[in-house]
Order: sequence, then structure tokens, then C-alpha cells
Amino acid sequence: MTASEPGGRQVPHSEIASEPTEATASESAGRPGISRRGLIGWALGSGVAGIAVGAGGAAAVGATAGASGGSAVADEYAFEGVHQAGITTRVQDHLHFASFDMMPRASREDLMSLLQDWSYAASRLTKGLDVSASGAVDGSPEAPPDDTGEAQGLTAAGLTITFGLGPSLFLAEGDRFGIADRRPSVLADLPGFVGDALDAAYTGGDLCIQACADDPQVAVHAVRNLSRIAFGRARLRWSQLGFGRTSRTSADQQTPRNLFGYKDGTANILADDAKALAEHVWVGEKDEPAWMAGGSYLVARKIAMLVETWDRLRLAEQDRTIGRAKGSGAPLSGGGEMTEPVFHGHAIDENAHVRLAHPTLNDGIRILRRGYNYVDGNNDLGRLDAGLFFLSYQRSPEQFVTLQKRLSTDLMSEYIRHIGSGIWAIPPGAEKGSYVGAGLFA
Ligand code: HEM
Repeated sequence: MTASEPGGRQVPHSEIASEPTEATASESAGRPGISRRGLIGWALGSGVAGIAVGAGGAAAVGATAGASGGSAVADEYAFEGVHQAGITTRVQDHLHFASFDMMPRASREDLMSLLQDWSYAASRLTKGLDVSASGAVDGSPEAPPDDTGEAQGLTAAGLTITFGLGPSLFLAEGDRFGIADRRPSVLADLPGFVGDALDAAYTGGDLCIQACADDPQVAVHAVRNLSRIAFGRARLRWSQLGFGRTSRTSADQQTPRNLFGYKDGTANILADDAKALAEHVWVGEKDEPAWMAGGSYLVARKIAMLVETWDRLRLAEQDRTIGRAKGSGAPLSGGGEMTEPVFHGHAIDENAHVRLAHPTLNDGIRILRRGYNYVDGNNDLGRLDAGLFFLSYQRSPEQFVTLQKRLSTDLMSEYIRHIGSGIWAIPPGAEKGSYVGAGLFA
């Protein structure tokens, strides 16, 4: 049963009843609402001194089944859980990734309240709701609306919001966040790699947000509103839009293609492979530090792909570079897409990408890949500024480091440039009523 919200969204009555009542402007330790700081921040940003926030029941958009790759897709994923959503979640079609820095004078309290506000807002946004009950159209006409409004009339579109904490946050000058002694020892800036051409404009960050959705506007709406909530406490450092997934995390998901035209994600770790996830993706109960148990580590690499050069290569040379056939995705050693490659013999080149990245050559190491294609316009020579926004989740950053070192002789290196980079600790999921990162301050 649904009722219409003023913004025209369909509201199931069952969800109105179960929606938590908002305590506005609360700064208590839990996560009852966006703090006064979060709300006043954007009012100040727009030159308005105060902001009115509606209280009481809120509305939710009903879950609708969409279709992608031919099978039913959940429209809503819970924000709370043992692990953060957006890692094993069936990969959505669009990405808006954002890296933030804390403001120079921000304190431990600012960091805590920001993570609380972000978690609260994310728990609403992932239900297809505005960031607050008064949202985009129900607040005072004298103040800027709490929500920017561009998601009015849209569903949750499978939105997931995943938060991460960068090494620089723990190493802040004077330990102003009081968390230096809680830094996971494995969380440090990545070493330099052969062929790196990193640009500071797409590298690093104290915090990150990965927003994935099946509608690009929903992902952008999430990052835009979360960045507005951060006003005065953190500011956007760099961000990236991705338009086509380059991996799969679910067996019934078709393997997508990257901008070289190859199937990507064939040998990925899938959501139903509990053993592989425990071994390669989730930080374990016995790993250090204890507050990271159930979390993971995210590596982002902005990898430019010289597509015009690639497009001039003979098909046989393209296949040799990857080690798989362009059409079927099958390894060059034979079989179908899902056949395991065979590396003895000469079918697969010693420096083919799939050989160098394969677990047999890397002490059994695996990672969960979740990247997206990007095109950021073109350069002065009329070439596309295109590539892969590589995202991988692993139990320890060391897994990525080992693979990336191994890829130093990759035949593909001639056609790609790593131009951006970041690493973040991804805390476990928030418990209901709590927030992502709570364990760090416990
Ligand atoms: C633009 C850059 C890249 C492109 C175009 C690319 C493309 C591909 C393709 C087409 C495959 C084969 C299909 C599959 O199993 O998914 C693959 C596999 C793989 N790639 Fe990449 N890749 C890139 C960068 C990287 C990086 C930076 C890493 C890690 C450091 C990496 C790690 C892997 C792994 C682990 C596999 C699976 C190997 C296996 O178990 O068979 N890739 N990649």
C-alpha cells in the first residue's frame, strides 16, 4: 500500500511506520540524526544562518525489481550489516567515487560526528529517501532545503555507500584525531611501482566514499549530499565517475567488458564463495587491529588506457597481451570462459596479464575486483581520456602490492598508465543505530 509524498514519491505505509523518528540536531554518541553541525554546515555554506529540519515520520520509496543481465535485481540494499555493503554486493552499473580530506582544524569530535552524520544519511539514501525528513521540498521556504532534490521521483536504484579511512587520517599532525595508536599496521601509503605516473590530483585522501547504483543520478546525488553534510569538517579532494562495471560478484551476473573490449571479472571472487571471502577479502577476528574485524582494505587506481594505440593492434596481439580470447573470454590454452587457464606449454605468453595476475604465480593470492570504466572527455590531440577506475578489496593491502609488483613485466603495460592511487581501511558494517567506524573510537 502506498501514499504519495509531497515530492510525488510513492510511499509504502508499512515503511512509514517502521521508519525511525528523527531527533534533529542531535550530537549524542549514537546515530539518531544528522548533527547540528552537519545541518548548520550547509546553511553556512549557502550564507543562511539557520536551517529548519522537519521531525517525525519519514517516507521511503518502495522496492521495485529492475532488470540487468536478464535477472531480477534488488532495488535496495541494507546499509547496516556485518560487512559494509558495496563490496560483495552484486556490482551495480554506475559509480561515483570521492576522496575527502579533513579540514586543517577539524578535531576528533568533528571526525566522529561526521562519520555519524554520513552513516545516518547513508542509511536513508540507500532506502531511496532524502537525507532528512524535510528533505528537498518539505522544509522552511526561508532556508535552503536539506536535500538537493535531484533524486526526487527516483528509486534507491540499488545504491550502496561504502566508507573508508586513509592512512593520512591516522598520521595527522599532532595526532589531532587521537587515533594514531589505532592505525592498522598494514595501512600505509602504497609503495611506488614500475611505470607509475601518479598525479596528485587523483591520489590519496583521509576518507573515501564509494557510491554505486544502477542509476548514475542516484550515485551522484549521494556523493553530492554527503559532501554537503561534510561542510566545515571535510572537503572533497578528488572524485571519479564510472559508467560501466568491469567485474561481477555474482555467478548469475554476465561478465562485462572493459574499454579494451575484453571480458573482465571472469576469475573474480564471488559473493557466495564464503571460503575465498574469509581467506582473501575480510579482515579476520584474529587479525590486527580488532576494530577492523569484518572490514577490508580498498585500493583504488585510476588507470588511463591508451585506447587509440590499443585499437591499432592485431587481434592476435591483443589476445596475446591479455592471455584470453577477445570474443569468448576463454583462456588461450583452450576451453570456455570459465575453464581454468593452463600455463605450461606456449599457448599463454609468459607476460600475458592473466598469467602474471593468476594465483598460481602469486602464492595463491586473490583479490575482489570491483572497478568501472571511465571516460573524462578527451585531450588536445583528440584522444579519449579513458581508462579503468580499478577498485579492489583485500584482507591486506599486501595482496595488491604483490600482484602489482608481479605485473611490472605485463605486456599490457605499454597500453596503460597508472595516474591515480589511494588506499583506505574499510571498517566493518554499522550495527543498527550505530555508525561506520564506531569501533575505532570505542
Ligand atoms: C587497465 C588495467 C587492467 C585491465 C584492462 C585488466 C584486464 C583484465 C582482464 C581482461 C582479465 C581477464 C578476465 C578476468 O579474469 O577478469 C583480468 C584478470 C585479472 N586482473 Fe586485470 N586488468 C587491469 C589491471 C589489473 C590490476 C592493476 C590488477 C592488480 C594489481 C589486476 C588483477 C587481475 C587479476 C587478479 C585477474 C584474474 C587472474 C586470474 O585469476 O585468472 N588487473 N584483468
